[in-house]
Amino acid sequence: MENLTPIALGSDHAGYALKEFIKAYLIDLNLEVKDFGTLSEDSVDYTDFGIRVAQKVAEGEFNRGILICGTGLGMSMVANRFKYVRAALCHDIFSAMMSRRHNDANILVLGGRVIGSELAREIVQTWLKTPFEDGRHRARIEKFDTIPCSSGRSDA
Ligand code: RB5
Repeated sequence: MENLTPIALGSDHAGYALKEFIKAYLIDLNLEVKDFGTLSEDSVDYTDFGIRVAQKVAEGEFNRGILICGTGLGMSMVANRFKYVRAALCHDIFSAMMSRRHNDANILVLGGRVIGSELAREIVQTWLKTPFEDGRHRARIEKFDTIPCSSGRSDA
């Protein structure tokens, strides 16, 4: 069974309030968390905090992370740049469940300006408790890691 904790948390200013709410919820469940910031509502770049958390998950130091910005979009874009990271932006319970069952998502992304805290809590709960189905889904997600980082347009 995968060890879920400690869970790496990160947000920008727009996700700060929801991060604090989710952190308190996880602590209430006796789950260990590591907060990579931000630590206030002062304006910051979501990129910096997304990188911090995604890097730790990519390196295998943390198995799970939760990232929160205003929409969840920027954090998703940043996190999915990292090999071995499968970040899922989920604003409904079904997507949270399927992101685990079929995609083995290791980072959950939320938009603090999109959903309320109670729905976010349900999404986090579902995402943490749902196992990966494995089987045919493993080969599919393993193909992500065959995509060369340099593929795409050249700067030249
Ligand atoms: C911050 O204003 C906002 O752009 C950020 O939180 C996020 O939504 C970006 O994708």
